[in-house]
Amino acid sequence: MSKRRPLIAGNWKMYKTIPEAVEMSKKLVSLLKEPTDVEVMIAPSYVLLSAVAQEIEGSGIFLGAQDLFWEKEGAYTGAVSAEMIVSAGCKYVIIGHSERRQYFGETDHSVNLKIRAAINSGLAPILCIGETENQRESDETFSVLDKQIKKGLKDFSYDELEKLVLAYEPVWAIGTGKTATSQQAQEIHKFLRNILEKTFGNSLAKNTRILYGGSVKPENIAELMAMDDVDGALVGGASLKADVFSGIVYF
Ligand code: PGA
Repeated sequence: MSKRRPLIAGNWKMYKTIPEAVEMSKKLVSLLKEPTDVEVMIAPSYVLLSAVAQEIEGSGIFLGAQDLFWEKEGAYTGAVSAEMIVSAGCKYVIIGHSERRQYFGETDHSVNLKIRAAINSGLAPILCIGETENQRESDETFSVLDKQIKKGLKDFSYDELEKLVLAYEPVWAIGTGKTATSQQAQEIHKFLRNILEKTFGNSLAKNTRILYGGSVKPENIAELMAMDDVDGALVGGASLKADVFSGIVYF
């Protein structure tokens, strides 16, 4: 089976000021000059988007946001809409990251609304799902993922989801240095692709990129990417240094 175009996405989380982000972007642009089949995306915090967009213009690196609010506009203090993100130069938006679920009350229902808003604005949503350590230990991994994916994508038809990217991020592997083994990742990714197939049909399942996230680094990316159903990575900590991140892109 020919694999989908790999995507390596950097999630900068709540790191970097504007000057730091500009410096990092300049370094990345110069380090990522060599041609590669890998699509590269970085997701800085909202306030950094415009500055980073200017730096990466013409470099082939795509921009993403880390979240959005689903309303078009209105009296929603502190919130950022899909259209605002698009106007800042974003092509992607991360939705349902476990840190949003854990610290900001994100639910499968709000995830669903956010994906709808992203798609309506032409953004490619990266839907994050993943089980906690407790859930894995009590054998709930498959049921948790099944629920997150089905509720997150409730009421969508396959033709609305052509830009969808899934990210499997086991919560126990995020920022902990513990990575799922490539076999564990492959097992889950295959399971997720099967759900996509049963719910939305073969063509969507075949074309949707499923990223792995959780302590990805230059040392473990090649092994993960060798798996049939691993189409890239969502990288947190290791995306914050240009040379480390480029080591992942050129795995
Ligand atoms: P990590 O984070 O690479 O630092 O584990 C991954 C993520 O949260 O997307």
